Amino acid sequence: MKTTLSIIKADVGSYCGHQLCHANLIKAADAVLKEAKASGTLIDYYVAHCGDDLDLIMTHDKGEGNEKVHKAAWDAFMDATAEAKKLKLYGAGQDILSDAFSGNVKGMGPGCAEMEFEERKSEPVVCFLMDKTDPGAFNFPVYRMFADPFNTAGLVIDPNMRNGFRFEVYDIKEHKRVFLNTPSELYELLALIGSTSRYVIKRVYPGADNKVPETEAVAAVSTDKLYEIAGDYVGKDDPVAIARGQSGLPSIGELVEPYAFPHLVSGWMRGSHVGPIYPCSMDNSIPTRFDGPTRIVALGFQLAEGKLVGPNDIFADGAYDRARSKALKVADYMRRHGPFQPHRLPPTDMEYTSMPKVMEKLKGRFESLKE
Ligand code: 13P
Ligand code: 13P
Ligand code: MG
Ligand code: MG
Repeated sequence: MKTTLSIIKADVGSYCGHQLCHANLIKAADAVLKEAKASGTLIDYYVAHCGDDLDLIMTHDKGEGNEKVHKAAWDAFMDATAEAKKLKLYGAGQDILSDAFSGNVKGMGPGCAEMEFEERKSEPVVCFLMDKTDPGAFNFPVYRMFADPFNTAGLVIDPNMRNGFRFEVYDIKEHKRVFLNTPSELYELLALIGSTSRYVIKRVYPGADNKVPETEAVAAVSTDKLYEIAGDYVGKDDPVAIARGQSGLPSIGELVEPYAFPHLVSGWMRGSHVGPIYPCSMDNSIPTRFDGPTRIVALGFQLAEGKLVGPNDIFADGAYDRARSKALKVADYMRRHGPFQPHRLPPTDMEYTSMPKVMEKLKGRFESLKE
């Protein structure tokens, strides 16, 4: 049987400010998905949150981009938005860009990561949920999971991974994509994905002779940049990702190992600052200091004919205490820079900027440097 795992997410309001998704929103979304499960649209679901983002983790047998599944998620966000408006939550309906559903959530605000595959004898998956950053934040950890032998021992010692992995990379400005094989095109891959605001990993596929067929994705990332969708600043683009593990793929321990290092990402306050990523449990995903630091939650499941067995809230473990403590030290260091780059993002990447107004005010006062 082919199973599809879909995570569809949106921020439809939070308290206080941009900190936390309210329990009433989770309840409203749960009621809609319960109905979708009863009617056979979904096999199973789990309503999660990371900070102020509402993350709908869903399984079904309908393939990617399915209208019924996307409509169920859309309805869940609409009902949650109605709750958010009642409670006057902050940013109620923030990521909903249209009033009318038109077949798919793509381009309508919510972010989406989906994968369809033949369930193996045992199918462990990890759902990664981030808050206060953008899709490029996944480039570094996903690269390390599937292409870095210093992270993933299996690349060296599991004969299944001898031919590495194939990366699908999106150019989110030009709306193009390119496929790159690792290890043979490792340098080209890094040349692109090191530019996290432009090139983002969308999917990863196994190389030849893996136990998993070359056509089946083993990782998928949401790459919906609301800024690009709307043409102007609206809402945010806090991303999610899915990765499958074990038996020819990185083990679950290898999938979560990159987060032992709290790498620097774009986002944080007003989506306009560079800061460390802070791995934490779902209950601790409450971005407080300077609306952060950026959070990453990892929920591990086993799939059983589409049923979600779990979750195991992976970063609740004390083994990530040191990463958290390092992230806080880095946060102190970065904050000391105030409005200066590289803490503040370059003007082209800022989600908030007063620059046009500043330039307007100073327009007549710039003098030519030519003698
Ligand atoms: P406002 O308070 O103007 O909405 O902006 C700050 C913020 O929280 C960004 O979303
Ligand atoms: P979100 O993208 O999580 O809504 O955060 C908005 C923000 O501006 C925080 O300062
Ligand atoms: Mg918000
Ligand atoms: Mg958010």
